[in-house]
Amino acid sequence: MLDILYRRRSIRKYKSAKLDVDTVQRLLKAALLSPSSRGLRPWQFVVVDDNEILTQLASVKKGAGFLKGAALGIVILADPAISDVWIEDASIAATILHLTSESLGLGSCWIQIRERQFTETETCEQYVRRTLGIPENLKVVSIISVGYPDESKSPHIDSELGLDKVHLNMFNQ
Ligand SMILES: Cc1cc2nc3c(=O)[nH]c(=O)nc-3n(C[C@H](O)[C@H](O)[C@H](O)COP(=O)(O)O)c2cc1C
Repeated sequence: MLDILYRRRSIRKYKSAKLDVDTVQRLLKAALLSPSSRGLRPWQFVVVDDNEILTQLASVKKGAGFLKGAALGIVILADPAISDVWIEDASIAATILHLTSESLGLGSCWIQIRERQFTETETCEQYVRRTLGIPENLKVVSIISVGYPDESKSPHIDSELGLDKVHLNMFNQ
């Protein structure tokens, strides 16, 4: 686990190979096992492996173009009627997908959807909702792109970490 955490980076370039069914199932099982407040599991996941739909989703905003080259886009949804802390729960599941990808030798990246604009009059959430036919009661939090990595990045080094952000006992002492 520490190895994964210490070397993890966001990967945005992917080989063209698709993932086999077993790998996709292992990824999704890890996400479904995520902790959630009161064990309510307010999430839903749309697994997109269709190239045409991936291309449509890649247009959702500037920082999503690489989704076009991904093997998968996993769209993270949550139902606020199930849990008041749906953002935390869905974000933990998304993070677990990102880390599990790393552990399976895959590259992945978080694409922010919630609170982002597609155009002046349409949010990224609305765009994803109409592209995938997602019901109105579900919020769209993010998309995790996944694929076999076609770039390698050095792990972050200690001097980048901001150790001054850690406080012992009292703030700023
Ligand atoms: C909440 C959140 C939103 C992010 N949104 C995007 C995004 O929309 N597009 C993107 O390319 N990367 C996105 N990222 C990835 C960050 O850019 C990345 O984690 C950061 O630059 C640090 O790089 P690293 O993950 O390689 O350490 C997001 C990450 C988080 C945690």
